[in-house]
Amino acid sequence: MLPDAIFAKAPVKGTDWSVPAADIDDAPRFPYRGMHLDCCLHFFDIPFLKRYIDLMALHKVNRFHWHLTEDQGWRLEIKKYPLLTEKGQWRKETVVGSLKSGIYDGKPYGGFYSQDEVRDLIEYAAERHVTIIPEIEIPGHSLAAISCYPELSCGLEDHYETATRWGIFRQVYCPKEETFKFLEDVFDEVIDLFPSELIHIGGDECPKASWKKCPHCQALIKKLGLKDEYELQSWFIQRMEKYINSKGRQIIGWDEILEGGLAPNAKVMSWLGEEGGIKAAQQHHEVVMAPYPKYYLDYWQGDPDSEPLAMGGPTMLRTMYEYNPVPEVLTAEESRYIIGVEGCVWTEYMPTPARVEYMAWPRMCAIAESGWSPAAKDWEGFTRRLETHLARLDRLEVGYCRNFWDPFIEMHPDTEYSKVVTMSVDAPGAEIHYTLDGSTPTAASPVYEGPFAVNRQQKVTAVSIRDGKQIGNVKYKEFR
Ligand code: ACM
Ligand code: ZN
Repeated sequence: MLPDAIFAKAPVKGTDWSVPAADIDDAPRFPYRGMHLDCCLHFFDIPFLKRYIDLMALHKVNRFHWHLTEDQGWRLEIKKYPLLTEKGQWRKETVVGSLKSGIYDGKPYGGFYSQDEVRDLIEYAAERHVTIIPEIEIPGHSLAAISCYPELSCGLEDHYETATRWGIFRQVYCPKEETFKFLEDVFDEVIDLFPSELIHIGGDECPKASWKKCPHCQALIKKLGLKDEYELQSWFIQRMEKYINSKGRQIIGWDEILEGGLAPNAKVMSWLGEEGGIKAAQQHHEVVMAPYPKYYLDYWQGDPDSEPLAMGGPTMLRTMYEYNPVPEVLTAEESRYIIGVEGCVWTEYMPTPARVEYMAWPRMCAIAESGWSPAAKDWEGFTRRLETHLARLDRLEVGYCRNFWDPFIEMHPDTEYSKVVTMSVDAPGAEIHYTLDGSTPTAASPVYEGPFAVNRQQKVTAVSIRDGKQIGNVKYKEFR
């Protein structure tokens, strides 16, 4: 209700500080309004995490899901297993470009959080009504830990080394007593550190190749009367759930913990689309919706031809805003098990804080609004509110993606000689003007009114015009 100048670093002269009289009738739609950050693929220091939490709190996002262990690095100090950070924080180099490039930078990469730093961050977050949920991945995505303690694996490889590219790796924890002792020790320290009732145990993308070959795993499947490796995974998770429940905490895991049967008290974070979330809610387990085609912030937010490398998409601001996190197939009773939403920031292609802010904002504003506000969607209203809000983010010097004012040009496949062009702009009240001959459009150029076809020699160049003036950047796209 105050002007954006309230967020300025220094007093702003001539600002009208009056607040309109109003009754406020407001309450959150969901109790769980989350934002995730992967600090393994890339590492982010505590001052940046504090800024991240400040921005979450500004948007009434109250759960920070902190991804702390991975194939590519272990980031949390564990006193009983110092090797996890002495060695496990490091990878010898990092892939350049996508994981398909096969080209590596040759630079050792590491970073970790001491338990003192973690305690300080937890306190900082709590002061801002943000709960930090730590994620310790089991049974997959555990190669950094296994590279320190190879005895925790099935022992089928000559050599275990922290991963240097993204992806899924077959080297996973072997469900033997030694492993459970290790994991119980690790979760003891995690539970001592983090007051969160929810502890994230990962559970995603655990290949079964090693378990299939491992004599111990196969004997265990027989001994326990399990059907297959999926049931072994379920048994693994259920055993850890029992342990974590015995400490008064609850587990949450990605969709794959549904494979082979859900642990009795587990909550599900649904990322593989909606199916897992639907299944879990129908089984009366609580669910956080984080489907990758809608809520993954490592996906493109504009034309991949002119944006930095990303994981997929594009998933535009409007798509994120309009997603309804309560799937329509659920009954009213089942819908109550959807406890919230989360935006996921996997940092494959985000080596710096600046890139994280660029990818996360302003799309996270849309997810935050879905977490807080009633189900009805009002895209026009959202764009008006967002434009006002972006002025606040400017005052805070958030390096958000500024394509809100730019035309978004898409070329859809047609014949060998034609493509169909569609264009859109998020900024309210803006019109798109364009040319097809490579010249820079002005307010006098034709206005985009709907899809049209172009030939191989035409190049679409477009600007957004509002009140006769250009807003945003000139964008172009060529037939390719
Ligand atoms: C995930 O993106 N593997 C949860
Ligand atoms: Zn094994």
